[in-house]
Amino acid sequence: MIPPLHWNEEAGRVDLLDQTRLPVEERWLDIETPEQMAEAIRMLRVRGAPAIGIAAAYGVVLALREPSADPHEAVRETIAMLATTRPTAVNLFYALDRMRRVADAHQGASKEVLRERLLDEAHAINQEDQEAGRKLGEHGLSLFQDGMTILTHCHAGGVATSGYGTALAPLLMAPERGVALQAFVDETRPLLQGSRITAWELTQVGVPATLITDSMAGHVMQQGRIDAVIVGADRIAANGDVANKIGTYALAVLANAHKIPFYVSAPLSTVDFDTAMGKDIVIEERDRQEVTHGFGRQTAPEAVTVYNPAFDVTPAHLVTAIVTEHGVVSPPYKANLAALRPPLP
Ligand code: MRU
Repeated sequence: MIPPLHWNEEAGRVDLLDQTRLPVEERWLDIETPEQMAEAIRMLRVRGAPAIGIAAAYGVVLALREPSADPHEAVRETIAMLATTRPTAVNLFYALDRMRRVADAHQGASKEVLRERLLDEAHAINQEDQEAGRKLGEHGLSLFQDGMTILTHCHAGGVATSGYGTALAPLLMAPERGVALQAFVDETRPLLQGSRITAWELTQVGVPATLITDSMAGHVMQQGRIDAVIVGADRIAANGDVANKIGTYALAVLANAHKIPFYVSAPLSTVDFDTAMGKDIVIEERDRQEVTHGFGRQTAPEAVTVYNPAFDVTPAHLVTAIVTEHGVVSPPYKANLAALRPPLP
């Protein structure tokens, strides 16, 4: 378990691991206001779909830390503000929606009662994700055999979630289960979540990890060195199309060309049953500087035009199976995901 944040009960704040500093520094930030939480989400200090949702849920609780004329209004404003931080990961909206429902159910409640109920809900979202992550690890591991080499992209491990991860969960769990897996890790341009965070987590638990740049994936597949690919997701449409870190689609095409299974692992909170297909998913575009000035150093002329989408969409037909906390889901995804849809609150 490598959680990205903790609720600090004594201080009434969130202690949050600044993921932008990894792997060289494990710096923890004191997050005391919703604005600080929003900044942390926008700047990817906390990142990964489930972790963003959990962070936002606690961010709503922080709205009640300072005195306010109308605590209910403060909560409403905070939810609206946090919803503008990042557009693609549906877990953000899933968590904020749950917080909104709790606030709505306690319209006439005192600030103290409202805060307690919101905190309970944020803890519940966190706890449910932990349970889901453990099951994702177990179900994911059932797809792999001893000695396999698994390629992954971006970072879908402990600090991208509540601690266990999604795509990385089976790899992180493998050593304690006596399963010998090894990983190939895509560096993941432009922000290097693969080399900075995935490689950091895998080496901590002793899973042999080989780092490659994204453009090497086809070559290692052609060499026969990859047995399976597994990635996380930021949003899965009702038909099984998957939005995940930019580069995922290219990897799925490559896996298909090399007849390598391509798995997606995500909790049901990442499935957006209200979005019919991948083309309806809003893809976040980020600052040009992430491409032209990777980690501070200029690597492109100022005058060049830059396109920097943070995610892409992998069509469902390229996905061999989707691992959820309820088990491994096979095509047809529309019917098989719908069968797992939780009852509407
Ligand atoms: O931009 P990021 O770093 O938040 O993107 C993260 C990813 O794309 C992950 O693969 C995804 O959120 C799954 S995390 C369990």
